Amino acid sequence: MEKTILITGGAGFIGSHVIRRFVKNHPNYRIVNLDKLTYAGNLENLKDVEKAENYIFEKGDICDSSFITAMFKKYNFDGVIHLAAESHVDRSISDPMSFITTNIVGTVVLLNAARECWRQNNEGKLFYHVSTDEVYGSLGATGKFVETTSYDPHSPYSASKASSDHLVRAYHDTYGMPVVISNCSNNYGANQFPEKLIPLAINNIKQGHPVPVYGKGENVRDWLFVEDHALAIELIFHKGVVGQTYNIGGENEWKNIDLIYLLCSIMDKKLNRPAKSSEKLITFVKDRAGHDLRYAIDSSKITRELGWSPSVDFEQGLEKTVDWYLANEEWMNAIVSGVYQEYYKTQYQHR
Ligand code: NAD
Ligand code: TYD
Repeated sequence: MEKTILITGGAGFIGSHVIRRFVKNHPNYRIVNLDKLTYAGNLENLKDVEKAENYIFEKGDICDSSFITAMFKKYNFDGVIHLAAESHVDRSISDPMSFITTNIVGTVVLLNAARECWRQNNEGKLFYHVSTDEVYGSLGATGKFVETTSYDPHSPYSASKASSDHLVRAYHDTYGMPVVISNCSNNYGANQFPEKLIPLAINNIKQGHPVPVYGKGENVRDWLFVEDHALAIELIFHKGVVGQTYNIGGENEWKNIDLIYLLCSIMDKKLNRPAKSSEKLITFVKDRAGHDLRYAIDSSKITRELGWSPSVDFEQGLEKTVDWYLANEEWMNAIVSGVYQEYYKTQYQHR
């Protein structure tokens, strides 16, 4: 094997798409997926690659320093792509501490282990930290986030990701750690846990349950198809410049309510329901605390320097996503039949 790469959080939504891409495109890399399998981690997401010869799964916690040190000793990783995180804003509002622990402490545990492992020679090594556009805060009606936009996080989630970004940069500046960071907009696609807007709405529409829209649905997000993100990660890992940050976005801004109307019309067609019947499920509920109004990414740096741009048209990507969820009922049912019910009750009954 030419390289051994550690990918953290590979059993989650984005991580599973990144693992699949690396396992398939790089048979000469040994890919180690390290994941704690929290509620958001699901090895079903990786069924098609689990037997590949260049793929290994290790169950463990990125906050467990002796375990992580042992992993670096065992595999002598050449590169790290760090995606493991607590990732849902609403959960960060009800339980900030797990975000501080996983997103901040866990990142530092990984940085320390990489630093120790690469102490003699860090030539050709790379610590790639995957982050979010939410660290930049909220935009008004105009403007976009660029790589130099000041950090201004508002939720415990975005503040914990901002802290981890700062720490990754600090390890670069202080210890010469070879790092690269990317900050991406909202992803959508197959295998996303149904606490996030799009899969939650798909499931609720299918079941005929209310579709909760926070506030007036005026908030704007810039949606990117997850496979476009995985491709950007592959490019940055190979061609990104050490010490640099790359913004990744979909050039695809949607008000939440408009997105939900589009989704309802796709679902009506797919489920052979009369036009406009799913719209009746839309229910405006109490807004999220500290709800950022608008995110929008300027991706011109990664386009200019690495030749990446989003390739999937939103309506087609959304239709493909709906098709995946409808064809993978068992995947969804296994999730929503368990502790998810408790989460859903706590999260939505008072809204
Ligand atoms: P996810 O919640 O679907 O998956 C997270 C994965 O990390 C899960 O498999 C989980 O088991 C694992 N994990 C959590 N805590 C862990 C721990 N302590 N040790 C080991 N593994 C642990 O998240 P996602 O949506 O796939 O996001 C992946 C990364 O991308 C995150 O860092 C997130 O901040 C970032 N990101 C996400 C989006 C998005 O729209 N989803 C956008 C931009 C950036
Ligand atoms: P989400 O998918 O949680 O992503 P993020 O908060 O990281 O952007 O939410 C996307 C948008 O949808 C956000 O503006 C909050 C809103 N939203 C709802 O209106 N209803 C919901 O049930 C959820 C989960 C989100």
